[in-house]
Amino acid sequence: MSWQYLAVATEAALRAGRIQRERYGGGFAIEMKGELDLVTEVDHACELAILETIRSRYPGHDIVTEETDLARTGSHHVWYVDPLDGTSNFAHAYPMFCASIALAFEGEIVAGAVFDPLRDELFTAEKGGGARLNGRPLRVSTAPTLIQSLLITGFPYDLHERLEERLRPFNRLMGKARAVRRDGSAALDLCYVAAARADGFWEAILKPWDMHAGRLVIAEAGGRSTRLDGTPLGLGSDGIVATNGLIHDELVAVLREAEAPALV
Ligand code: IPD
Ligand code: CA
Ligand code: CA
Repeated sequence: MSWQYLAVATEAALRAGRIQRERYGGGFAIEMKGELDLVTEVDHACELAILETIRSRYPGHDIVTEETDLARTGSHHVWYVDPLDGTSNFAHAYPMFCASIALAFEGEIVAGAVFDPLRDELFTAEKGGGARLNGRPLRVSTAPTLIQSLLITGFPYDLHERLEERLRPFNRLMGKARAVRRDGSAALDLCYVAAARADGFWEAILKPWDMHAGRLVIAEAGGRSTRLDGTPLGLGSDGIVATNGLIHDELVAVLREAEAPALV
């Protein structure tokens, strides 16, 4: 059954991606949601296309989507929609953004699709059915230690208010890993771990729509994702560590150290 859900998630992500590709490079209105957090006309246009796609097939399902607060009916099926993940990149014509769509059934993520329209890369996963990039199976990397790892991270929009706290783990890991990147699209960051382009990812706090599709892609590619302290993730907003599995405990341990300010 989840292959039908995945087909709908994929169709919705591809529709949004086409809009992003057409509008990429400028000529759209931008509004500020906070000092750093912005939203463009294109986020709204993508959201509309995605909602239309899901609702035309599953009018009774609940939808949690970034740009519109929708009432929940208590459906066992809940869609999580990020119409444009990487909005700051998109607004600056920095080529790293996507649409990310996941479906949870009775609290478990069962389907996910993440589409990068500039590279024409579609990451998909269904529970128990594996993870794919444009139809080809994905497998996480085999990097065994942090020092042999390329990590990715991201920073929430409260960065300016909590600069020191947010940079503490980043500074530590810059000294422990082979490299740390900051790409600006959490959904793609997670898929890059699934595709063995990176070995691990962490971010202090993400929204459900940023991470649920990517979480399933990682799980189905043989990786692992948890809260920052290594305990299981639920479906709400949370910090996340997602890795190839092999470096997970080492990464969690460094994040724990960074949590506790140095005693000397
Ligand atoms: C943001 C991106 C970014 C991450 C932020 C997210 P948005 O999503 O995923 O990489 O660091 O925490 O909020 O606002 O571009 O959809
Ligand atoms: Ca996002
Ligand atoms: Ca977004």
